[in-house]
Amino acid sequence: MPYLLPYWRTIALGLLCLLFSIPAANFHPLVWGYIVDHVILKHNFKMLIPAVILMFSVQLVGTILEAFRSNLLEKVGQRLIFRLRNEVYQKLQRQSISYLHDNRIGDLISRAMGDVDVLQNVAVQGSDSIISNFFTFIFISFILIRMNWKLGLVALFPIGLVFLLTKQFSIRVKKLYRSARDKLGVVNARLQENLSGMLVIKGFAQEPYETQRFKDVTEDYLQTNFRAINARSIFFPSVRVVGFVSNVLSLAYGSYLVMIGQFTLGGLVTYRGYWAPLFFPISQLAQINEMLQRAQAAGSRVFELLDQEELIQDAPDAKPLQLTRGKVEFRHVTFSYGVKPALQDVSFITEPGQMVALVGPSGAGKTTVLNLLPRFYDPQEGEVLIDDQNVRCVTQASLRSHYAIVQQETFLFNGTVVENIRYGRPDASFEEVEEAARAANAADFIREMPNGYDTEIGERGVKLSGGQKQRLSIARAFLANPKILILDEPTSSVEPESEWIIIQALERLMKGRTTFVTSHRFSLVRGADKIIVFEQGRIVEEGTHKQLMAAKGLYSTMYRQQMAG
Ligand SMILES: Nc1ncnc2c1ncn2[C@@H]1O[C@H](COP(=O)(O)OP(=O)(O)O)[C@@H](O)[C@H]1O
Ligand SMILES: [Mg+2]
Repeated sequence: MPYLLPYWRTIALGLLCLLFSIPAANFHPLVWGYIVDHVILKHNFKMLIPAVILMFSVQLVGTILEAFRSNLLEKVGQRLIFRLRNEVYQKLQRQSISYLHDNRIGDLISRAMGDVDVLQNVAVQGSDSIISNFFTFIFISFILIRMNWKLGLVALFPIGLVFLLTKQFSIRVKKLYRSARDKLGVVNARLQENLSGMLVIKGFAQEPYETQRFKDVTEDYLQTNFRAINARSIFFPSVRVVGFVSNVLSLAYGSYLVMIGQFTLGGLVTYRGYWAPLFFPISQLAQINEMLQRAQAAGSRVFELLDQEELIQDAPDAKPLQLTRGKVEFRHVTFSYGVKPALQDVSFITEPGQMVALVGPSGAGKTTVLNLLPRFYDPQEGEVLIDDQNVRCVTQASLRSHYAIVQQETFLFNGTVVENIRYGRPDASFEEVEEAARAANAADFIREMPNGYDTEIGERGVKLSGGQKQRLSIARAFLANPKILILDEPTSSVEPESEWIIIQALERLMKGRTTFVTSHRFSLVRGADKIIVFEQGRIVEEGTHKQLMAAKGLYSTMYRQQMAG
Protein backbone atom coordinates (compact mmCIF):
# COMPACT_ATOMS: atom_id res chain seq x y z
CA MET A 1 0.00 0.00 0.00
CA PRO A 2 2.72 2.57 0.71
CA TYR A 3 3.71 1.83 -2.88
CA LEU A 4 0.52 3.54 -4.03
CA LEU A 5 1.07 6.85 -2.26
CA PRO A 6 3.18 8.58 -4.90
CA TYR A 7 0.44 8.01 -7.48
CA TRP A 8 -2.58 9.15 -5.51
CA ARG A 9 -3.42 11.94 -7.95
CA THR A 10 -3.52 9.59 -10.93
CA ILE A 11 -5.45 7.03 -8.94
CA ALA A 12 -7.97 9.64 -7.78
CA LEU A 13 -8.47 10.85 -11.34
CA GLY A 14 -8.88 7.27 -12.54
CA LEU A 15 -11.47 6.57 -9.87
CA LEU A 16 -13.33 9.75 -10.77
CA CYS A 17 -13.55 8.60 -14.40
CA LEU A 18 -14.74 5.27 -13.10
CA LEU A 19 -17.46 6.80 -10.99
CA PHE A 20 -18.97 8.58 -13.98
CA SER A 21 -18.33 5.94 -16.58
CA ILE A 22 -20.29 3.18 -14.85
CA PRO A 23 -23.72 4.82 -14.87
CA ALA A 24 -23.07 6.16 -18.38
CA ALA A 25 -22.03 2.81 -19.77
CA ASN A 26 -24.99 1.07 -18.15
CA PHE A 27 -27.66 3.59 -19.06
CA HIS A 28 -28.99 2.08 -22.29
CA PRO A 29 -31.40 -0.57 -20.93
CA LEU A 30 -33.29 2.21 -19.14
CA VAL A 31 -33.75 3.97 -22.47
CA TRP A 32 -34.92 0.72 -24.02
CA GLY A 33 -37.55 0.38 -21.33
CA TYR A 34 -38.63 3.96 -22.00
CA ILE A 35 -38.86 3.30 -25.75
CA VAL A 36 -41.07 0.25 -25.21
CA ASP A 37 -43.44 1.82 -22.68
CA HIS A 38 -43.58 5.42 -23.91
CA VAL A 39 -42.68 5.29 -27.60
CA ILE A 40 -43.75 1.96 -29.07
CA LEU A 41 -46.80 1.26 -26.98
CA LYS A 42 -48.00 4.89 -27.19
CA HIS A 43 -47.09 5.38 -30.89
CA ASN A 44 -45.09 8.43 -29.88
CA PHE A 45 -43.08 8.81 -33.12
CA LYS A 46 -41.33 12.07 -32.38
CA MET A 47 -39.59 10.77 -29.24
CA LEU A 48 -37.90 7.82 -30.97
CA ILE A 49 -34.99 9.75 -32.51
CA PRO A 50 -34.17 11.86 -29.40
CA ALA A 51 -34.29 8.73 -27.25
CA VAL A 52 -31.88 6.90 -29.53
CA ILE A 53 -29.54 9.91 -29.70
CA LEU A 54 -29.57 10.20 -25.91
CA MET A 55 -28.78 6.51 -25.61
CA PHE A 56 -25.91 6.83 -28.03
CA SER A 57 -24.34 9.96 -26.52
CA VAL A 58 -24.45 8.70 -22.96
CA GLN A 59 -22.92 5.44 -24.07
CA LEU A 60 -20.18 7.30 -25.97
CA VAL A 61 -19.28 9.42 -22.95
CA GLY A 62 -19.17 6.27 -20.83
CA THR A 63 -16.83 4.54 -23.25
CA ILE A 64 -14.48 7.51 -23.42
CA LEU A 65 -14.34 7.80 -19.64
CA GLU A 66 -13.68 4.09 -19.43
CA ALA A 67 -10.76 4.41 -21.82
CA PHE A 68 -9.27 7.21 -19.70
CA ARG A 69 -9.73 5.21 -16.56
CA SER A 70 -8.01 2.12 -17.95
CA ASN A 71 -5.17 4.18 -19.33
CA LEU A 72 -4.52 5.93 -16.01
CA LEU A 73 -4.90 2.95 -13.74
CA GLU A 74 -3.01 0.52 -15.95
CA LYS A 75 -0.06 2.87 -16.02
CA VAL A 76 -0.06 3.05 -12.24
CA GLY A 77 -0.08 -0.74 -12.25
CA GLN A 78 2.91 -0.88 -14.60
CA ARG A 79 4.81 1.62 -12.44
CA LEU A 80 4.21 -0.47 -9.35
CA ILE A 81 5.55 -3.54 -11.07
CA PHE A 82 8.53 -1.63 -12.38
CA ARG A 83 9.40 -0.60 -8.85
CA LEU A 84 8.78 -4.05 -7.46
CA ARG A 85 11.04 -5.72 -10.03
CA ASN A 86 13.85 -3.28 -9.33
CA GLU A 87 13.42 -3.77 -5.63
CA VAL A 88 13.70 -7.52 -6.10
CA TYR A 89 16.90 -7.04 -8.07
CA GLN A 90 18.43 -4.77 -5.45
CA LYS A 91 17.44 -7.20 -2.73
CA LEU A 92 19.21 -10.01 -4.56
CA GLN A 93 22.24 -7.83 -5.01
CA ARG A 94 22.35 -7.08 -1.28
CA GLN A 95 22.08 -10.74 -0.41
CA SER A 96 25.14 -12.57 0.80
CA ILE A 97 27.14 -14.95 -1.34
CA SER A 98 25.89 -17.84 0.76
CA TYR A 99 22.28 -16.94 -0.11
CA LEU A 100 23.10 -17.21 -3.79
CA HIS A 101 24.79 -20.54 -3.11
CA ASP A 102 21.80 -21.86 -1.23
CA ASN A 103 19.22 -20.87 -3.82
CA ARG A 104 18.99 -21.98 -7.39
CA ILE A 105 19.63 -19.12 -9.75
CA GLY A 106 16.90 -20.33 -12.12
CA ASP A 107 14.35 -20.19 -9.33
CA LEU A 108 15.42 -16.68 -8.34
CA ILE A 109 15.09 -15.58 -11.96
CA SER A 110 11.67 -17.12 -12.14
CA ARG A 111 10.65 -15.18 -9.03
CA ALA A 112 12.04 -11.91 -10.30
CA MET A 113 10.57 -12.28 -13.78
CA GLY A 114 7.70 -14.77 -14.02
CA ASP A 115 6.15 -14.23 -10.62
CA VAL A 116 6.45 -10.48 -10.91
CA ASP A 117 4.76 -10.77 -14.33
CA VAL A 118 1.81 -12.57 -12.78
CA LEU A 119 1.51 -9.75 -10.26
CA GLN A 120 1.69 -7.38 -13.19
CA ASN A 121 -1.48 -8.86 -14.68
CA VAL A 122 -3.35 -8.22 -11.49
CA ALA A 123 -1.86 -4.82 -10.84
CA VAL A 124 -2.59 -3.69 -14.37
CA GLN A 125 -5.96 -5.23 -15.15
CA GLY A 126 -7.11 -6.67 -11.88
CA SER A 127 -7.37 -3.74 -9.53
CA ASP A 128 -8.95 -1.58 -12.21
CA SER A 129 -11.56 -4.15 -13.10
CA ILE A 130 -12.24 -5.26 -9.54
CA ILE A 131 -13.32 -1.75 -8.68
CA SER A 132 -15.27 -1.13 -11.87
CA ASN A 133 -17.02 -4.51 -11.82
CA PHE A 134 -17.90 -4.12 -8.20
CA PHE A 135 -19.44 -0.70 -8.74
CA THR A 136 -21.21 -1.80 -11.90
CA PHE A 137 -22.80 -4.63 -9.97
CA ILE A 138 -23.88 -2.31 -7.17
CA PHE A 139 -25.23 0.27 -9.60
CA ILE A 140 -27.30 -2.24 -11.57
CA SER A 141 -28.59 -4.00 -8.47
CA PHE A 142 -29.71 -0.63 -7.17
CA ILE A 143 -31.66 0.10 -10.37
CA LEU A 144 -33.24 -3.35 -10.47
CA ILE A 145 -34.38 -3.17 -6.86
CA ARG A 146 -35.76 0.35 -7.35
CA MET A 147 -37.75 -0.66 -10.44
CA ASN A 148 -39.40 -3.55 -8.68
CA TRP A 149 -37.98 -4.81 -5.45
CA LYS A 150 -39.64 -8.23 -5.53
CA LEU A 151 -38.39 -8.95 -9.03
CA GLY A 152 -35.02 -7.47 -8.12
CA LEU A 153 -34.62 -9.89 -5.26
CA VAL A 154 -35.55 -12.84 -7.47
CA ALA A 155 -32.90 -11.77 -10.00
CA LEU A 156 -30.23 -11.16 -7.39
CA PHE A 157 -30.85 -14.11 -5.12
CA PRO A 158 -28.92 -16.73 -7.16
CA ILE A 159 -25.91 -14.41 -7.18
CA GLY A 160 -25.38 -15.32 -3.54
CA LEU A 161 -24.65 -18.82 -4.73
CA VAL A 162 -21.79 -17.50 -6.86
CA PHE A 163 -20.05 -16.21 -3.77
CA LEU A 164 -20.30 -19.61 -2.13
CA LEU A 165 -18.94 -21.30 -5.25
CA THR A 166 -16.10 -18.79 -5.47
CA LYS A 167 -15.12 -19.42 -1.90
CA GLN A 168 -15.01 -23.17 -2.45
CA PHE A 169 -12.98 -22.75 -5.60
CA SER A 170 -10.48 -20.36 -4.03
CA ILE A 171 -9.72 -22.78 -1.25
CA ARG A 172 -9.10 -25.54 -3.79
CA VAL A 173 -6.83 -23.64 -6.15
CA LYS A 174 -4.79 -21.66 -3.64
CA LYS A 175 -2.40 -24.53 -2.91
CA LEU A 176 -2.43 -25.69 -6.51
CA TYR A 177 -1.31 -22.34 -7.84
CA ARG A 178 1.47 -21.97 -5.31
CA SER A 179 2.70 -25.43 -6.15
CA ALA A 180 2.49 -24.63 -9.89
CA ARG A 181 4.65 -21.52 -9.43
CA ASP A 182 7.18 -23.46 -7.38
CA LYS A 183 7.32 -26.17 -10.03
CA LEU A 184 7.84 -23.60 -12.74
CA GLY A 185 10.73 -22.31 -10.65
CA VAL A 186 12.20 -25.82 -10.67
CA VAL A 187 11.79 -26.03 -14.45
CA ASN A 188 13.56 -22.71 -14.84
CA ALA A 189 16.38 -23.75 -12.54
CA ARG A 190 16.86 -26.98 -14.47
CA LEU A 191 16.94 -25.11 -17.77
CA GLN A 192 19.39 -22.55 -16.50
CA GLU A 193 21.71 -25.16 -15.02
CA ASN A 194 21.65 -27.35 -18.12
CA LEU A 195 22.38 -24.43 -20.41
CA SER A 196 25.35 -23.43 -18.25
CA GLY A 197 26.56 -27.03 -18.12
CA MET A 198 25.95 -27.89 -21.76
CA LEU A 199 29.62 -28.64 -22.31
CA VAL A 200 29.54 -31.34 -19.65
CA ILE A 201 26.23 -32.74 -20.88
CA LYS A 202 27.52 -33.04 -24.43
CA GLY A 203 30.96 -34.13 -23.32
CA PHE A 204 29.55 -37.11 -21.46
CA ALA A 205 26.85 -37.68 -24.09
CA GLN A 206 24.17 -37.32 -21.43
CA GLU A 207 21.60 -35.64 -23.67
CA PRO A 208 19.01 -38.46 -23.39
CA TYR A 209 19.37 -38.47 -19.59
CA GLU A 210 19.03 -34.70 -19.34
CA THR A 211 16.13 -34.72 -21.80
CA GLN A 212 14.38 -37.19 -19.54
CA ARG A 213 15.17 -35.17 -16.42
CA PHE A 214 13.82 -32.04 -18.04
CA LYS A 215 10.73 -33.93 -19.13
CA ASP A 216 10.24 -35.11 -15.55
CA VAL A 217 10.14 -31.63 -14.08
CA THR A 218 7.96 -30.25 -16.87
CA GLU A 219 5.64 -33.27 -16.51
CA ASP A 220 5.31 -32.46 -12.84
CA TYR A 221 4.42 -28.89 -13.73
CA LEU A 222 1.96 -30.15 -16.36
CA GLN A 223 0.15 -32.38 -13.88
CA THR A 224 -0.26 -29.52 -11.43
CA ASN A 225 -1.68 -27.39 -14.21
CA PHE A 226 -4.08 -30.20 -15.16
CA ARG A 227 -5.45 -30.23 -11.66
CA ALA A 228 -5.95 -26.48 -11.82
CA ILE A 229 -7.73 -26.84 -15.17
CA ASN A 230 -10.07 -29.43 -13.70
CA ALA A 231 -10.97 -27.13 -10.85
CA ARG A 232 -11.56 -24.30 -13.29
CA SER A 233 -13.70 -26.32 -15.66
CA ILE A 234 -16.10 -27.11 -12.86
CA PHE A 235 -16.14 -23.64 -11.41
CA PHE A 236 -16.71 -21.37 -14.39
CA PRO A 237 -19.60 -23.37 -15.96
CA SER A 238 -21.26 -23.52 -12.55
CA VAL A 239 -21.08 -19.76 -12.33
CA ARG A 240 -22.70 -19.50 -15.75
CA VAL A 241 -25.47 -21.91 -14.78
CA VAL A 242 -26.25 -19.77 -11.76
CA GLY A 243 -26.44 -16.81 -14.12
CA PHE A 244 -28.98 -18.55 -16.33
CA VAL A 245 -31.04 -19.50 -13.31
CA SER A 246 -31.15 -15.84 -12.34
CA ASN A 247 -32.13 -14.87 -15.87
CA VAL A 248 -34.85 -17.49 -16.26
CA LEU A 249 -36.31 -16.90 -12.81
CA SER A 250 -36.51 -13.16 -13.24
CA LEU A 251 -38.04 -13.43 -16.72
CA ALA A 252 -40.62 -15.94 -15.56
CA TYR A 253 -41.56 -13.98 -12.49
CA GLY A 254 -41.39 -10.73 -14.45
CA SER A 255 -43.77 -12.05 -17.15
CA TYR A 256 -46.15 -13.12 -14.40
CA LEU A 257 -45.98 -9.65 -12.82
CA VAL A 258 -46.67 -8.01 -16.21
CA MET A 259 -49.67 -10.31 -16.76
CA ILE A 260 -51.19 -9.48 -13.41
CA GLY A 261 -50.53 -5.80 -14.09
CA GLN A 262 -47.87 -5.12 -11.46
CA PHE A 263 -45.07 -4.43 -13.93
CA THR A 264 -44.70 -2.87 -17.38
CA LEU A 265 -43.51 -4.54 -20.55
CA GLY A 266 -40.78 -1.91 -20.89
CA GLY A 267 -39.66 -2.73 -17.38
CA LEU A 268 -39.28 -6.34 -18.41
CA VAL A 269 -37.24 -5.32 -21.47
CA THR A 270 -35.02 -3.26 -19.19
CA TYR A 271 -34.56 -6.27 -16.93
CA ARG A 272 -33.69 -8.41 -19.86
CA GLY A 273 -31.27 -5.69 -21.01
CA TYR A 274 -29.59 -5.63 -17.62
CA TRP A 275 -29.10 -9.35 -17.39
CA ALA A 276 -25.85 -9.29 -19.33
CA PRO A 277 -24.38 -6.17 -17.67
CA LEU A 278 -25.37 -7.55 -14.28
CA PHE A 279 -23.94 -10.92 -14.91
CA PHE A 280 -20.83 -9.82 -16.74
CA PRO A 281 -19.24 -8.25 -13.62
CA ILE A 282 -20.09 -11.37 -11.65
CA SER A 283 -18.30 -13.69 -14.03
CA GLN A 284 -15.52 -11.12 -14.32
CA LEU A 285 -15.15 -11.03 -10.57
CA ALA A 286 -15.02 -14.80 -10.56
CA GLN A 287 -12.22 -14.65 -13.10
CA ILE A 288 -10.46 -11.91 -11.22
CA ASN A 289 -10.72 -13.93 -8.08
CA GLU A 290 -8.94 -16.69 -9.91
CA MET A 291 -6.34 -14.21 -11.07
CA LEU A 292 -5.97 -13.05 -7.47
CA GLN A 293 -5.36 -16.60 -6.33
CA ARG A 294 -2.63 -16.90 -8.93
CA ALA A 295 -1.23 -13.55 -7.93
CA GLN A 296 -1.26 -14.54 -4.31
CA ALA A 297 0.75 -17.63 -5.15
CA ALA A 298 3.22 -15.64 -7.22
CA GLY A 299 3.22 -12.76 -4.76
CA SER A 300 4.02 -15.02 -1.84
CA ARG A 301 7.11 -16.16 -3.76
CA VAL A 302 8.16 -12.60 -4.52
CA PHE A 303 7.60 -11.37 -0.99
CA GLU A 304 9.32 -14.39 0.48
CA LEU A 305 12.35 -13.23 -1.44
CA LEU A 306 11.94 -9.61 -0.38
CA ASP A 307 11.46 -10.56 3.26
CA GLN A 308 14.51 -12.80 3.42
CA GLU A 309 16.88 -11.59 6.04
CA GLU A 310 20.16 -10.28 4.65
CA LEU A 311 22.89 -12.27 6.33
CA ILE A 312 25.64 -9.77 5.72
CA GLN A 313 24.60 -6.23 6.54
CA ASP A 314 26.35 -3.02 7.43
CA ALA A 315 26.22 -2.42 11.16
CA PRO A 316 23.89 0.50 12.00
CA ASP A 317 26.88 2.60 13.09
CA ALA A 318 29.21 1.36 10.35
CA LYS A 319 31.92 3.82 9.36
CA PRO A 320 34.08 3.81 6.25
CA LEU A 321 37.21 1.73 6.63
CA GLN A 322 40.29 3.85 7.39
CA LEU A 323 42.95 1.98 5.52
CA THR A 324 46.40 3.47 5.58
CA ARG A 325 48.81 0.57 5.90
CA GLY A 326 47.12 -2.68 5.02
CA LYS A 327 47.69 -4.81 8.10
CA VAL A 328 45.43 -7.85 8.31
CA GLU A 329 44.68 -9.92 11.37
CA PHE A 330 42.63 -13.06 12.06
CA ARG A 331 41.81 -13.48 15.76
CA HIS A 332 40.63 -16.94 16.81
CA VAL A 333 38.41 -17.31 13.78
CA THR A 334 36.08 -20.28 13.61
CA PHE A 335 33.78 -20.64 10.65
CA SER A 336 31.57 -23.24 9.05
CA TYR A 337 29.39 -23.17 5.93
CA GLY A 338 27.08 -25.73 7.41
CA VAL A 339 27.72 -28.34 10.03
CA LYS A 340 31.37 -29.19 9.66
CA PRO A 341 33.77 -26.35 10.55
CA ALA A 342 35.83 -25.12 7.60
CA LEU A 343 38.13 -23.03 9.83
CA GLN A 344 38.92 -23.68 13.48
CA ASP A 345 40.54 -21.18 15.77
CA VAL A 346 42.61 -19.55 13.05
CA SER A 347 44.84 -16.66 14.16
CA PHE A 348 47.54 -14.84 12.22
CA ILE A 349 48.82 -11.33 11.53
CA THR A 350 50.15 -10.08 8.24
CA GLU A 351 52.18 -6.91 8.08
CA PRO A 352 51.43 -4.17 5.53
CA GLY A 353 52.82 -4.92 2.10
CA GLN A 354 53.62 -8.52 2.91
CA MET A 355 52.96 -11.34 0.52
CA VAL A 356 51.30 -14.19 2.37
CA ALA A 357 50.81 -17.58 0.80
CA LEU A 358 48.19 -20.00 2.04
CA VAL A 359 48.96 -23.59 1.21
CA GLY A 360 47.58 -26.98 2.14
CA PRO A 361 45.66 -29.87 0.67
CA SER A 362 42.47 -29.09 -1.16
CA GLY A 363 39.55 -28.56 1.20
CA ALA A 364 41.89 -27.33 3.94
CA GLY A 365 40.15 -23.93 4.15
CA LYS A 366 42.39 -21.63 2.09
CA THR A 367 39.62 -20.18 -0.06
CA THR A 368 37.51 -19.83 3.06
CA VAL A 369 40.14 -17.54 4.63
CA LEU A 370 40.02 -15.41 1.48
CA ASN A 371 36.20 -15.32 1.58
CA LEU A 372 36.23 -13.85 5.07
CA LEU A 373 38.48 -10.91 4.14
CA PRO A 374 35.93 -8.98 2.01
CA ARG A 375 33.16 -10.24 4.31
CA PHE A 376 31.54 -12.54 1.79
CA TYR A 377 30.82 -14.53 4.93
CA ASP A 378 30.99 -13.70 8.63
CA PRO A 379 32.84 -16.02 10.99
CA GLN A 380 30.80 -17.64 13.77
CA GLU A 381 33.56 -16.92 16.27
CA GLY A 382 36.52 -14.59 16.34
CA GLU A 383 37.30 -11.46 14.39
CA VAL A 384 38.83 -10.34 11.13
CA LEU A 385 40.61 -6.99 11.42
CA ILE A 386 42.02 -4.68 8.76
CA ASP A 387 44.29 -1.97 10.17
CA ASP A 388 42.85 -2.86 13.59
CA GLN A 389 39.23 -2.29 12.49
CA ASN A 390 36.81 -5.18 12.67
CA VAL A 391 35.43 -5.81 9.17
CA ARG A 392 31.97 -6.10 10.74
CA CYS A 393 32.12 -2.54 11.98
CA VAL A 394 32.93 -0.83 8.69
CA THR A 395 30.76 -0.36 5.61
CA GLN A 396 30.94 -3.15 3.06
CA ALA A 397 31.38 -0.68 0.22
CA SER A 398 34.45 0.95 1.79
CA LEU A 399 35.87 -2.40 2.80
CA ARG A 400 35.60 -3.93 -0.65
CA SER A 401 36.89 -0.85 -2.42
CA HIS A 402 40.31 -1.68 -1.01
CA TYR A 403 40.49 -5.17 -2.48
CA ALA A 404 41.10 -6.63 -5.86
CA ILE A 405 40.31 -10.29 -6.31
CA VAL A 406 41.75 -12.58 -8.94
CA GLN A 407 40.22 -16.02 -8.89
CA GLN A 408 40.88 -19.28 -10.59
CA GLU A 409 37.92 -18.82 -12.94
CA THR A 410 37.68 -15.26 -14.12
CA PHE A 411 34.28 -13.87 -14.81
CA LEU A 412 34.20 -11.50 -17.74
CA PHE A 413 31.05 -9.61 -18.65
CA ASN A 414 29.65 -9.47 -22.15
CA GLY A 415 31.20 -6.30 -23.45
CA THR A 416 34.42 -4.95 -24.81
CA VAL A 417 37.91 -5.57 -23.48
CA VAL A 418 38.20 -2.01 -22.26
CA GLU A 419 34.86 -2.20 -20.44
CA ASN A 420 35.97 -5.33 -18.66
CA ILE A 421 39.30 -3.84 -17.58
CA ARG A 422 37.58 -0.67 -16.39
CA TYR A 423 35.05 -2.61 -14.34
CA GLY A 424 36.46 -1.61 -10.95
CA ARG A 425 37.17 1.99 -12.00
CA PRO A 426 34.82 3.14 -14.76
CA ASP A 427 36.33 6.63 -14.84
CA ALA A 428 39.85 5.48 -15.71
CA SER A 429 41.32 7.10 -18.82
CA PHE A 430 42.23 5.05 -21.86
CA GLU A 431 45.93 5.62 -21.18
CA GLU A 432 45.51 4.16 -17.72
CA VAL A 433 43.73 1.14 -19.19
CA GLU A 434 46.58 0.61 -21.65
CA GLU A 435 49.13 0.93 -18.88
CA ALA A 436 47.30 -1.62 -16.75
CA ALA A 437 47.11 -4.01 -19.71
CA ARG A 438 50.84 -3.62 -20.30
CA ALA A 439 51.62 -4.28 -16.67
CA ALA A 440 49.41 -7.37 -16.81
CA ASN A 441 51.25 -8.67 -19.90
CA ALA A 442 47.96 -8.42 -21.75
CA ALA A 443 48.74 -5.57 -24.14
CA ASP A 444 50.22 -7.81 -26.82
CA PHE A 445 47.36 -10.18 -27.29
CA ILE A 446 44.81 -7.38 -26.98
CA ARG A 447 46.50 -5.56 -29.84
CA GLU A 448 46.23 -8.68 -31.98
CA MET A 449 42.48 -8.94 -31.44
CA PRO A 450 40.25 -7.79 -34.33
CA ASN A 451 39.22 -4.49 -32.75
CA GLY A 452 41.93 -4.19 -30.13
CA TYR A 453 40.55 -2.78 -26.91
CA ASP A 454 37.09 -2.46 -28.42
CA THR A 455 36.78 -6.16 -29.20
CA GLU A 456 33.60 -7.67 -27.80
CA ILE A 457 34.22 -10.67 -25.63
CA GLY A 458 31.41 -13.17 -25.64
CA GLU A 459 29.34 -14.86 -22.98
CA ARG A 460 31.75 -15.27 -20.07
CA GLY A 461 34.64 -14.57 -22.41
CA VAL A 462 34.51 -17.94 -24.12
CA LYS A 463 36.49 -16.63 -27.03
CA LEU A 464 39.57 -16.15 -24.83
CA SER A 465 41.94 -18.75 -23.44
CA GLY A 466 42.20 -19.24 -19.68
CA GLY A 467 45.51 -17.40 -19.59
CA GLN A 468 44.19 -14.45 -21.59
CA LYS A 469 41.16 -14.13 -19.35
CA GLN A 470 43.41 -14.24 -16.34
CA ARG A 471 45.61 -11.46 -17.71
CA LEU A 472 42.52 -9.31 -18.29
CA SER A 473 41.50 -9.84 -14.70
CA ILE A 474 45.01 -8.90 -13.58
CA ALA A 475 44.77 -5.73 -15.68
CA ARG A 476 41.43 -5.06 -13.99
CA ALA A 477 43.14 -5.42 -10.60
CA PHE A 478 46.00 -3.12 -11.65
CA LEU A 479 43.58 -0.42 -12.65
CA ALA A 480 41.62 -0.72 -9.42
CA ASN A 481 44.93 -0.15 -7.61
CA PRO A 482 43.88 -1.74 -4.31
CA LYS A 483 45.76 -1.85 -1.00
CA ILE A 484 44.99 -5.53 -0.52
CA LEU A 485 45.18 -8.25 -3.14
CA ILE A 486 43.43 -11.60 -3.03
CA LEU A 487 44.68 -14.22 -5.46
CA ASP A 488 42.93 -17.58 -5.31
CA GLU A 489 44.74 -20.18 -7.39
CA PRO A 490 45.45 -17.56 -10.05
CA THR A 491 47.43 -19.88 -12.29
CA SER A 492 45.38 -23.06 -11.94
CA SER A 493 43.24 -22.79 -15.04
CA VAL A 494 45.96 -21.40 -17.20
CA GLU A 495 47.87 -23.15 -19.99
CA PRO A 496 51.38 -24.08 -18.78
CA GLU A 497 53.04 -21.94 -21.45
CA SER A 498 51.38 -18.76 -20.20
CA GLU A 499 51.88 -19.52 -16.52
CA TRP A 500 55.24 -17.78 -16.44
CA ILE A 501 53.91 -14.60 -18.07
CA ILE A 502 51.12 -14.54 -15.54
CA ILE A 503 53.42 -15.04 -12.59
CA GLN A 504 55.54 -12.13 -13.85
CA ALA A 505 52.45 -9.93 -14.09
CA LEU A 506 51.32 -10.99 -10.65
CA GLU A 507 54.68 -10.17 -9.12
CA ARG A 508 54.42 -6.70 -10.58
CA LEU A 509 50.90 -6.38 -9.24
CA MET A 510 51.84 -7.53 -5.73
CA LYS A 511 54.51 -4.90 -5.27
CA GLY A 512 53.61 -2.58 -2.37
CA ARG A 513 50.33 -4.31 -1.57
CA THR A 514 49.36 -6.73 1.15
CA THR A 515 48.75 -9.89 -0.82
CA PHE A 516 47.05 -13.18 -0.01
CA VAL A 517 47.69 -15.92 -2.47
CA THR A 518 46.67 -19.55 -2.50
CA SER A 519 48.33 -21.79 -4.97
CA HIS A 520 49.30 -25.35 -5.62
CA ARG A 521 52.25 -24.06 -7.61
CA PHE A 522 55.29 -23.69 -5.42
CA SER A 523 56.91 -21.46 -8.02
CA LEU A 524 54.47 -18.78 -6.90
CA VAL A 525 54.46 -19.65 -3.22
CA ARG A 526 58.18 -19.98 -2.61
CA GLY A 527 58.93 -16.27 -2.69
CA ALA A 528 56.27 -15.30 -0.12
CA ASP A 529 57.22 -13.32 2.97
CA LYS A 530 55.14 -15.70 4.99
CA ILE A 531 53.65 -19.08 4.24
CA ILE A 532 50.75 -20.36 6.32
CA VAL A 533 50.03 -24.06 6.01
CA PHE A 534 46.46 -25.27 6.55
CA GLU A 535 45.17 -28.71 7.19
CA GLN A 536 41.52 -29.50 7.90
CA GLY A 537 40.70 -25.91 8.79
CA ARG A 538 43.60 -25.39 11.19
CA ILE A 539 46.96 -23.69 10.85
CA VAL A 540 49.60 -26.37 11.18
CA GLU A 541 52.75 -24.49 10.18
CA GLU A 542 53.84 -20.93 9.54
CA GLY A 543 57.10 -19.42 8.28
CA THR A 544 59.20 -18.68 5.22
CA HIS A 545 60.01 -21.27 2.58
CA LYS A 546 63.42 -21.80 4.14
CA GLN A 547 62.10 -22.23 7.67
CA LEU A 548 59.35 -24.61 6.59
CA MET A 549 61.70 -26.73 4.52
CA ALA A 550 63.99 -26.99 7.53
CA ALA A 551 61.05 -27.97 9.75
CA LYS A 552 60.38 -31.01 7.55
CA GLY A 553 56.63 -30.89 8.20
CA LEU A 554 53.63 -30.97 5.88
CA TYR A 555 55.00 -28.16 3.71
CA SER A 556 58.28 -29.85 2.94
CA THR A 557 56.48 -33.14 2.22
CA MET A 558 54.12 -31.40 -0.24
CA TYR A 559 57.01 -29.53 -1.81
CA ARG A 560 59.08 -32.66 -2.34
CA GLN A 561 56.09 -34.49 -3.81
CA GLN A 562 55.56 -31.77 -6.37
CA MET A 563 59.21 -31.48 -7.27
CA ALA A 564 59.43 -35.26 -7.64
CA GLY A 565 56.70 -35.46 -10.09
N1 LIG B 1 29.98 -22.83 -0.31
C1 LIG B 1 30.28 -23.85 0.50
N2 LIG B 1 29.31 -24.49 1.15
C2 LIG B 1 29.58 -25.53 1.98
N3 LIG B 1 30.81 -26.00 2.23
C3 LIG B 1 31.84 -25.40 1.61
C4 LIG B 1 31.64 -24.30 0.71
N4 LIG B 1 32.83 -23.91 0.23
C5 LIG B 1 33.74 -24.74 0.83
N5 LIG B 1 33.16 -25.62 1.64
C6 LIG B 1 33.84 -26.63 2.48
O1 LIG B 1 34.71 -25.96 3.34
C7 LIG B 1 35.95 -26.62 3.44
C8 LIG B 1 37.09 -25.70 3.04
O2 LIG B 1 36.95 -25.36 1.69
P1 LIG B 1 37.90 -24.37 0.93
O3 LIG B 1 38.18 -23.21 1.80
O4 LIG B 1 37.30 -24.09 -0.40
O5 LIG B 1 39.21 -25.25 0.75
P2 LIG B 1 40.51 -24.96 -0.12
O6 LIG B 1 40.37 -23.63 -0.77
O7 LIG B 1 41.61 -25.04 0.87
O8 LIG B 1 40.59 -26.08 -1.10
C9 LIG B 1 35.84 -27.84 2.55
O9 LIG B 1 35.52 -28.93 3.39
C10 LIG B 1 34.70 -27.54 1.64
O10 LIG B 1 34.01 -28.71 1.29
MG1 LIG C 1 40.31 -23.17 -2.79
